[in-house]
Formats: sequence, C-alpha cells, structure tokens
Amino acid sequence: MMRYYTLIPLLAIAFLPACGSRDAGKVAASDPGAALVQNVCKDCHGPNGQGQGRFPRLAGRSAEELATLLRQYKSGHKSVNMSDTMRPFAQALSDQQIDQVAAYLAAQ
Ligand code: HEC
Repeated sequence: MMRYYTLIPLLAIAFLPACGSRDAGKVAASDPGAALVQNVCKDCHGPNGQGQGRFPRLAGRSAEELATLLRQYKSGHKSVNMSDTMRPFAQALSDQQIDQVAAYLAAQ
C-alpha cells in the first residue's frame, strides 16, 4: 500500500498520517485540509486545532480570518503577536492549501 502511494509523493505526504488517525472518526482522508492539520499543525495547535499552551486555538474560527493570518505569515508580514515560528509552515502551503486548511479548521 505504501508503494502504491509513492507514485504520488505529494498525496502520500498528505494522506498517510491521515490513515493512521482515521479511527478518530473525524478525519476524512479525502479532505486535504484535514490531512494538513494532522500532518503539520497538530503537534503545536492540537489534533483538531483546539489549541494548547502558547499555541492558539484555530478550531471554529472564521476561515477567512485564518486564511488572512496564514497569508500574512507567508508573506512575512508581522502584526502584533506574530513570532517567526509560524512562517516556515505558512510558506510551505500553497494558496489553495491555505484555503483548504482554513476551511477545515473553521468547521471544527
Ligand atoms: C512549531 C509549532 C507550530 C506549528 C507546526 C504550526 N503553528 Fe500555527 N502558530 C504557532 C504559534 C507559536 C503561534 C502563535 C503566534 C505566533 O507565534 O506567531 C501560531 C499561530 C497561528 C495562527 C494565528 C492565530 C492567531 O490567533 O493569531 C494561525 C492561523 C496558525 N498558527 C495556523 C497554523 C496552521 C494552519 C498550521 C499547520 C499548517 C500551523 N499553524 C502550524 C506554532 C505553530
């Protein structure tokens, strides 16, 4: 099965961890936003973006606000409270992925 996925490296990166967390019942492997959160964001922001410690809650916030913040991080724009921590993660996202991850988090 792994070998099958390596045909499409980007999808493999997006979907393999999502497979592992499917028992959580919430992650649809077909949702690229969900896969991104499980892959990239959860170690800091929590499995569904609920936030923990110094990592702010993302779940349930407006998709527009989240996407705007991510684009600001991506472009290097800094407003109050923005550290350098997020920039590499935002820069790794395409415009479409920003919209997908924001939509997923907003729906949590
Ligand atoms: C290495 C830890 C880390 C990872 C991984 C990470 N973040 Fe963050 N994120 C932070 C920290 C810390 C902040 C707090 C503000 C700051 O430091 O800029 C933050 C802030 C944010 C904010 C702004 C929230 C606010 O209220 O201002 C958004 C949106 C965000 N992260 C989205 C994401 C998304 C989406 C991902 C996954 C693609 C992600 N983050 C991955 C550490 C992380």
